[in-house]
Amino acid sequence: MRKITLIPGDGIGTEISRSLVKIFESAKVPIEFEVENAGLTVYKQTGELIPESLYKSIEKNKVAIKGPITTPIGEGFRSINVSLRKKYDLYSNIRPVKSISGINTKYENVNMVIFRENTEGLYIGEEKFEDKEKTSAIAIKRITKKGSTRIIKEAFEYAKKNNFNKVTVVHKANILKITDGMFLETAREISKQYKDIELEEMIVDNMCMQLVTNPQKFQVIVTMNFYGDFLSDLAAGLVGGLGIAPGANIGDDIAIFEAVHGSAPDIAGQNKANPTALILSSIEMLKYLNLNEYAKKIEKAIFKVLALPNFKTYDLSGNVGTKEFTDKIIEFL
Ligand code: NAI
Ligand code: MG
Repeated sequence: MRKITLIPGDGIGTEISRSLVKIFESAKVPIEFEVENAGLTVYKQTGELIPESLYKSIEKNKVAIKGPITTPIGEGFRSINVSLRKKYDLYSNIRPVKSISGINTKYENVNMVIFRENTEGLYIGEEKFEDKEKTSAIAIKRITKKGSTRIIKEAFEYAKKNNFNKVTVVHKANILKITDGMFLETAREISKQYKDIELEEMIVDNMCMQLVTNPQKFQVIVTMNFYGDFLSDLAAGLVGGLGIAPGANIGDDIAIFEAVHGSAPDIAGQNKANPTALILSSIEMLKYLNLNEYAKKIEKAIFKVLALPNFKTYDLSGNVGTKEFTDKIIEFL
């Protein structure tokens, strides 16, 4: 049995994690979850947002799956997601975006994967006022050769492994000539090592327009932290929204898989959450662990359920509860 750290999280996190555990048990996945929580619930009980035992568990198991976490608003509270990414140098934020049969959206046959640089760019948290009166402020964006190289390499390697023949690099190098310029130049250099993969260069504003007019033309997308944040949520919207969008944060040593959505306090505890995003993330995790047989088994079952007419969760305009949705997946396993 492989041990994996499970961080249930806050709000709907409890409900969707319960769903995940039930499905893994029914599918007889050879994984044992070590449950260690973090977030607001834990903070209220212990005064700590991330307990030391959670760090220990992640460092021991190397792989974790995480529900959404509420970061308390206020001075001194750093987002837990950002903290974990930084501490473990999880530089690739990977978001597969794929049309799902049975989920009605304006777009069909979308199949792309977004690679967002996760550790630098505009999100390094270096901001300051420039004057005593606080009427002017700046934020620093940091792009490094090392940071750019590793995420762009990941994107190309992924394309190669999964038979995609194009990687789109998204930038604004026409304005940010030094920072984005370096990222773009790095992409050009790396692409030379991949003869069968085309490098497409796209300025971020044009990218937004292209994504909503013709999303089918994209395969693998690689970009910096800031643009990747927005583009990946936009892309999730193309195929049915946050309730079905999986994600992963991967470094050289440690990987944390997570749903993209937040803790949804508006529906928490009401049996209304869609567990799909977390389950699809767990399928990505199984592939990462080379447990492909189980990944396929669960994938088949959940796609069957999602394809059922008149069997939709609340976020997809239906009235099927988290529990009922989960039980149906188990029935199909
Ligand atoms: P949110 O994603 O929690 O909710 C946005 C809307 O989508 C809500 O109407 C919610 O009901 C719905 N929704 C989200 N996930 C759903 C699901 N699985 N099934 C059905 N409906 C779903 O975003 P919001 O409201 O901006 O943030 C709420 C809290 O979550 C905040 O404290 C925020 O910090 C935290 N958050 C945590 C994230 C993480 O841990 N990765 C990511 C984003 C937000
Ligand atoms: Mg975001």
